[in-house]
Amino acid sequence: MNRKLIAGNWKMNGLRADLQTVRDVCAAIKGEKTAPETLLCVPATLLVAASATADGSALRIGGQTCHSRQSGAFTGDVSAQMLQDAGASYVIAGHSERRTFHGETDEIVAAQAASAIASGLVPIICVGETPGERTSGETLQVIERQLTGSLAGLEAASAFVIAYEPLWAIGTGKVATPEQIAEVHDHVRGFLANRFGAAGNAARILYGGSLNPGNAAEILAISNVDGGLIGGASLKAADFLAIYTTACALEG
Ligand code: 13P
Repeated sequence: MNRKLIAGNWKMNGLRADLQTVRDVCAAIKGEKTAPETLLCVPATLLVAASATADGSALRIGGQTCHSRQSGAFTGDVSAQMLQDAGASYVIAGHSERRTFHGETDEIVAAQAASAIASGLVPIICVGETPGERTSGETLQVIERQLTGSLAGLEAASAFVIAYEPLWAIGTGKVATPEQIAEVHDHVRGFLANRFGAAGNAARILYGGSLNPGNAAEILAISNVDGGLIGGASLKAADFLAIYTTACALEG
């Protein structure tokens, strides 16, 4: 069983006043290796302050996207090297909101993941089907296509995380059923094991999409669910910590 990762994605939310949430999470989590790993992916503007706040605690801080290049004439963009320099140890790559609103393709996501790894960050590579793809029975093909493209060039020795986030479950309150989650996660595991061997079994696969304190116990207990990528419920320390506590109980 892989050590669980409980990761929050604040998306475009969070001002300096919200560093109190980071403080509250730091104060409550345990540092032991037997406890789940905990991560908050905050907006780029808060990275330096959030990293300083989390310094000395078990909380890791991450970015939400990065450019595929390390520097250059890319106005408004942030590189993996900059995120690392600001205190990040993880970065989300290819979140569906980036794929939808910024036209990020599997090829771009693969380049971002490579750049993240080159900068010493662990990429969390997101995949997920649209409602239409789910209805037409294409889910597993879509996931496989995204994995093939987004993981192109990745080496087995590199640390990376996959997040399965069905688009219809993100921010909707509609959660995938345990059967739907298990089917996709097992398929992702098969893909990773086939492609990377033992390293594919060690890579964590997170579920994301309306994960909350009420459904965390059921979802985090599913085999091949190695944690969660949590949007809305990561904005409040109490909700995020309730999910963390559920994961702690499952780690035994
Ligand atoms: P919600 O938890 O708000 O549905 O968001 C999920 C998500 O997109 C995390 O990356």
